[in-house]
Amino acid sequence: MSVVRFGVSLEKEILDELDDFVNKNHFSNRSQAIRSLISKKLVVKDWEENQEVAGAISLVYDHHKRDLLNKLADMQHDFFDIILSAQHFHLDHDNCLEIIAVKGKAFKIKELADKLIAIKGIQHGTLSMSNKQ
Ligand code: NI
Repeated sequence: MSVVRFGVSLEKEILDELDDFVNKNHFSNRSQAIRSLISKKLVVKDWEENQEVAGAISLVYDHHKRDLLNKLADMQHDFFDIILSAQHFHLDHDNCLEIIAVKGKAFKIKELADKLIAIKGIQHGTLSMSNKQ
C-alpha cells in the first residue's frame, strides 16, 4: 500500500490529547496512532455492513462440565466453512482456553460467537473483531 502524506489542522488541546494517546499506547508516532484509530472505525463499519471479515473467538471453560465438549464440537462443525483453525490450551487441571480463528461474513461469525459463548458451562467468551486489511 502506498503512503500519502496530508496536513491536518487541530486545536492545541486535541493535539495534546493525541500525543498523550500516542505515548500511553506505545505508538512510535502520531501517524501510527491515527492509522490505528481510523482502522478501528473501519473495522466496526465492515462488521455492521456484513462484509468479509476476520477475527478470533476465545472461550474459557471447565472441560468437566457435562455435554460442553460435544456442544462445542457440534457447533464448530455447523460453521466449519468460516473456521480457519482452533487451538486448545489446558490452563490448569480443570480449565481450558480455546481460540478459534474465523474468516467470513460478519453476521455469520457473530452468530457463531454468540452461540458458542451462550453454551452452558462457558465461563468467559469474547469475539475479537478484525478485518482483512
Ligand atoms: Ni483442556
